[in-house]
Amino acid sequence: MSLEIEKATQYIKENIKVKPVIGMILGSGLGYIADKVENSISLNYKDIPYFPISTVVGHEGSLVVGMIQGVPVIVLKGRFHAYEGTDLKKIVFPIYVMKKLGVQGLIITNAAGGINRTYHPGDIVANKDFINYTFKNPLIGPNMDEFGPRFPSMVQPVDKQWLKSIIEESKKQNIEIKEGTYLWTLGPSYETPAEIRLFDKLGADLVGMSTMPEIIAAKHIGLKVVSFSAVTNMAAGILPQPLRHEEVLQTTERIKNKFEKVVYNAIKS
Ligand code: 6GU
Repeated sequence: MSLEIEKATQYIKENIKVKPVIGMILGSGLGYIADKVENSISLNYKDIPYFPISTVVGHEGSLVVGMIQGVPVIVLKGRFHAYEGTDLKKIVFPIYVMKKLGVQGLIITNAAGGINRTYHPGDIVANKDFINYTFKNPLIGPNMDEFGPRFPSMVQPVDKQWLKSIIEESKKQNIEIKEGTYLWTLGPSYETPAEIRLFDKLGADLVGMSTMPEIIAAKHIGLKVVSFSAVTNMAAGILPQPLRHEEVLQTTERIKNKFEKVVYNAIKS
């Protein structure tokens, strides 16, 4: 694996002009932020040695490198989910490459279903803690000792100081950021009402199908990370009406500006 990471890193280095310090992984419907990168260079995943490629037609991923708010950034536009059949090792491969490129902090965004009844569709929730309900782990297999320990600590999944300043800065702009525990499911089916009642009892505030493998990899290599959910809908059984995918899309559209500001605050903090 190390050699593959080295080769991908080398290819990217040869094709970019700035050294990125912030990495970003953008969730479903939140990819527009990649279009805000200035002086950008875009590399197709399929051209980067050993990079994961999407099996879904029309979902070609690209890596965008350039400047946002005067900060050199690298953005993964198009992320991979376990439900697509992508191996977890492949899902986290780009995190290791970012580390090799010199990235110091990682910003993750995702779309999630709200379990906590004080949440509403359109809320932005900082993921403060996580529950792995897939019982899978991207670190299973031989450990890459040169990157991190065999048994990484998950005591502080996200960087508290970084998050604190993002919340404070956003508050000044009248943007409320809530906080909660994100529970990772494999998907692709949404949950049953009974599962959501269970997750509620387990202490989950949000449910989603991404982010946690990337968090685990970031902790493995000691990369600072923060993660934000857009609550696109309430989870099964929380509201009387059924879940609709259109609702998810409409909500992400509605909160675009607010979400973008939070990401900018994260880049600057
Ligand atoms: Cl309700 N469940 C899961 N697993 N992921 C989601 C979601 C729900 N809403 C958005 N993403």
